[in-house]
Amino acid sequence: MAKKTIAVVGATGAQGGGLVRAILADPSGEFAARALTRDVTSEKAKALATLGAEVVAVNIDDAASVRRAFEGAHGAFCVTAFWEHFSPEKEQAQARVMAQAAKDAGVKHVVWSTLEDTRKWVPLTDTRMPTLQGKYKVPHFDAKGEANAIFSGLSVPTTFLNTSFYWDNLIHFGMGPKKGPDGKLAFVLPMGDKKLPGIAAEDIGRCAYGVFKRPDLIGKTVGIAGEHLTGAQMAAALTTALGQEVVHGAVTPEAYRGFGFPGADDLGNMFQFNADFEKDFCAARDLGFSRSLNPQLQTFAQWLAANKERIPLG
Ligand SMILES: NC(=O)c1ccc[n+]([C@@H]2O[C@H](COP(=O)([O-])OP(=O)(O)OC[C@H]3O[C@@H](n4cnc5c(N)ncnc54)[C@H](OP(=O)(O)O)[C@@H]3O)[C@@H](O)[C@H]2O)c1
Repeated sequence: MAKKTIAVVGATGAQGGGLVRAILADPSGEFAARALTRDVTSEKAKALATLGAEVVAVNIDDAASVRRAFEGAHGAFCVTAFWEHFSPEKEQAQARVMAQAAKDAGVKHVVWSTLEDTRKWVPLTDTRMPTLQGKYKVPHFDAKGEANAIFSGLSVPTTFLNTSFYWDNLIHFGMGPKKGPDGKLAFVLPMGDKKLPGIAAEDIGRCAYGVFKRPDLIGKTVGIAGEHLTGAQMAAALTTALGQEVVHGAVTPEAYRGFGFPGADDLGNMFQFNADFEKDFCAARDLGFSRSLNPQLQTFAQWLAANKERIPLG
C-alpha cells in the first residue's frame, strides 16, 4: 500500500526534525516524510534527504508555497519559529497561511504545535506580571493559543499539541548552569518549589508521530512532557550527571525579567505563569499519555546522560 505523506514544517528544526527522523526510523510504518525548509541546499536539509525524506522548499510567509508543499499530503505538522522574530502577529499570520493551505489541499490530519493562551488565566488587567507588546502576557504562548481558533474556524482536522520546555535550552538557549559569585554552579529557574514540565526536544517529534497514528485525536487538545521537575530536582540531576555540585538559583520572576537578554521579559512571565498555575499546566501534560504516544520518551536523567557534554558551563 502507498505510504501516507506527512508534510513537516520546521523539518530542519528541533520539533519537525524529531518528527521526520521518527517517521524515517519506522520504515515499516504507514507514513512517508516530506521535509519542508526554506533552503533545500542546507546541510540539515541534505542530511534529511540522505535519511530518506522528500525535501521540498517552503516559506510559511508565502501562502502559495505552503499550498504547493501540502499538496497530496495526508498529514501536516505545523510549527512557527517565534524566537527568530519575536513577533506574535507574524506567528498568527503564518498559522493562518498553514491552516488555509491544509484546508485547500484537503489534508486529513494537522498537528499544530501550540501552547496555552495565558491570558485565559492572567487577563491583561491582572498586574501580577507586566503586559508585553501591548496585548500579551506571554507573547510566544498567547499568539499560538490564540491561533488555535484559526484552525478550528476553518474546520481543519487538527490535533492541538501543547508542547513543553525543551531541556535542550540548557545547550542552545543559554540556560545551562552558571557560576555565581560564590563560585558555585547555579541552575537558574524562577519558579520557587513549583514543577516545570520539560521534555527532550527530539521527543516532541516522536510524540507528534504518535499523534499522527491516532486519528481519534483529531479535534482534541493534547499535551506532552517527559517529566515534571522542580528547579531543585533539576539541579540535583545536573549534580549527578556532571559530577559537580549544581545548586538551584531560585531567583524571582521579576529578577529574571530584568536579565536583559532578548525575550527575558517573555520568559520571566512564562515561568511565573508555569509556577502560579502549576497544577493546570502539569495536568495538561500527562506523562503516561506522552509515553503512550512515544514509548522512547526520555527522563531528564536519561537526556542528561546523553547530552551532558554539550551543556556549556558558564
Ligand atoms: N525552546 C523551548 O523550550 C520551546 C518549548 C515549546 C515550544 N517552543 C516553540 O518552538 C518553536 C520553534 O520550533 P523548533 O524549536 O522546532 O524550531 P527551531 O529548531 O528553532 O528551527 C526553526 C525551524 O523553523 C523553520 N522556519 C523558520 N521560519 C520559516 C519560514 N518562514 N518558512 C519555513 N520554515 C521556517 C526553519 O527552517 P529553515 O531554516 O530550514 O527554513 C527551522 O526548521 C517556537 O515557536 C517556540 O516558541 C519552544
